[in-house]
Amino acid sequence: MSEFPIHPVPPHFADAHINAKTYAALYQRSIDDRDGFWADMATEFLSWDQPWHTVVEGDFSKGEARWFGGGKLNVSYNCIDRHLPERAGQTALIWEGDNPADSEHISYSQLHERVCRLANVLRARGVGKGDRVCIYMPMIPEAAYAMLACARIGAIHSVVFGGFSPTAITDRILDADCRTVITADEGRRGGKVVPLKTNVDTALTSCPNVHTCLVVRVTGSTQAWQEGRDIWYHEATTEVARECSPELMDAEDPLFILYTSGSTGKPKGVLHTTGGYLLQAAMTFKYTFDYREGEVFWCTADVGWVTGHTYILYGPLANGAISLMFEGVPTYPDAGRCWEIVDKHQVNTFYTAPTAIRALHAVGDAPVKRSSRDSLRLLGSVGEPINPEAWEWYYRVVGDSRCPIVDTWWQTETGAQMITPLPGATDLKPGAASMPMFGVELALLDEGGAEIEGAGAGYLVIKSSWPSQIRTIYGDHQRMVETYFSHYPGYYFTGDGATRDQDGYYWITGRVDDVLNISGHRMGTAEIESALVLHEDIAEAAVVGYPHDIKGQGIYCFVTPMDGVEPSESLRAELVALCATEIGAIAKPDVIQWAPGLPKTRSGKIMRRILRKIAENEVGNLGDISTLADPSVVDHLVANRVHPE
Ligand code: WT7
Repeated sequence: MSEFPIHPVPPHFADAHINAKTYAALYQRSIDDRDGFWADMATEFLSWDQPWHTVVEGDFSKGEARWFGGGKLNVSYNCIDRHLPERAGQTALIWEGDNPADSEHISYSQLHERVCRLANVLRARGVGKGDRVCIYMPMIPEAAYAMLACARIGAIHSVVFGGFSPTAITDRILDADCRTVITADEGRRGGKVVPLKTNVDTALTSCPNVHTCLVVRVTGSTQAWQEGRDIWYHEATTEVARECSPELMDAEDPLFILYTSGSTGKPKGVLHTTGGYLLQAAMTFKYTFDYREGEVFWCTADVGWVTGHTYILYGPLANGAISLMFEGVPTYPDAGRCWEIVDKHQVNTFYTAPTAIRALHAVGDAPVKRSSRDSLRLLGSVGEPINPEAWEWYYRVVGDSRCPIVDTWWQTETGAQMITPLPGATDLKPGAASMPMFGVELALLDEGGAEIEGAGAGYLVIKSSWPSQIRTIYGDHQRMVETYFSHYPGYYFTGDGATRDQDGYYWITGRVDDVLNISGHRMGTAEIESALVLHEDIAEAAVVGYPHDIKGQGIYCFVTPMDGVEPSESLRAELVALCATEIGAIAKPDVIQWAPGLPKTRSGKIMRRILRKIAENEVGNLGDISTLADPSVVDHLVANRVHPE
């Protein structure tokens, strides 16, 4: 645990929405009177077309949860229409382009019109309630319109991160049987262009059911065009009406599918539903960020990840907030870009990932000091553990020791923040995700599955249902039950380890399964291994993570070539390229070590524990290797290990 000093709640947060007293009282109520608490929140935060009859039902031990049964509402109505009487002219989205000269303010009434028009286009193409729509977009306002247009007509969106490869797009389109795709000709990121439509074209050669591909014109470059299927967004949206009636949805109707990696197999389509998801997105946004009317909120995530779904789009808009969406990257044109944007748009809250903080820290204070950052009131961190050194720099240099940092722990599966400090309630400990959010009942389990009392370390689990809980893995409910609800019966298993200190603060220590966190991007070792062994010269591969100064974790691959194949630099390059084409650039290995053999037990199971130690360069104590079929392979791997920078 950290030696760093505690930062008490600053006096200027004394009038926050939640203070220490109200946190304790509300948290207690949320556990003791769960139904009453969430009913009150659902009334306060959302507009319902029809009230629910049952707050929550279902058997948590089987992963079953139904929230607000009987209730009806529409997410796009809640994020747009209901704000119109009071804030039609207020900005909903601020878009900042990759090029610092490009930006746009989109008001709630403009948002309404654009979402309605797109929703009408989709309806005219036969898309309706329950249909799946794949969105593969750059960070442009149309990505937000696309998600909200789906929500408006009851279609289920499946956003695929714009950095994923054609193969990854195909897999996701087929898994959910998406028949409509919304994309752009090209994306712009860090001064480079990303060939989105070309990637989609490649992907769609294997997706015969896709009848419609809507294309936003961003760069205007020439594209291959399949008549009948491909449609220009700017043409189609002008030909339809500017009003579109929202579909009446059940609270439990699906809102979206989002693919995420697990420790085995292919990425799984995490499914979230309408009422519970939106409620928890809205509630956490207001309380965690102590959001005030008129403030500008900036979450730097991509809409392709859950953070973008919940905290660029749904949480802010459900609160009638002003949300900033940035097309580019923090280091373009230079490392001062974020702080320039903060000054330019008078950003009040800045929410980013530790990997970005570490990368900016590494280039020093000068690019930060060029800006004033006077508008900043609060900072946030998400996606991976933040090391206390990075935390302190973020606090001292970026926030001028004035802005609390909320280090928020959650997952694609939880839909919204689960553990976080609240700026008006929680004294900050650098590196600690701190305290459970309202309604979140946590426990730490030991190896045997017994709950640890008081201070200690163990597996982080959740003891009871919460509204934005994962409902299923699309098309494979059994996999959901096995992944999250079978390890420890009666508990939701997060896959993370954590410690709880004497003050009850939670410190996330990282994944305890074969899931990597590379620059805040989640990836399964199994996915990378599958990509590597597609190469005809490769017999076997085992992938582990190792600590990386900037990325948090790096990808270390032990690769066994086929008999008679001589390892070479060109083979290495082919393997790196293969990971990029199979998954995406984020999956490129950092280290490939040639391994004539892998450490296996007599039953053939690879002992990853040993590989992790070698990758971490901790070879002094490899533990018991006597159960290996051939202990001598370890000597070879140790002797030839690569020392990553
Ligand atoms: C995994 C979930 C949360 C949305 C973005 C990532 C890690 C997330 C923290 C944090 C330590 C964190 C966990 C978790 N993680 N936030 N504040 N401190 N670790 O969502 O891709 O579903 O990944 O990210 O390991 O299990 P995701």
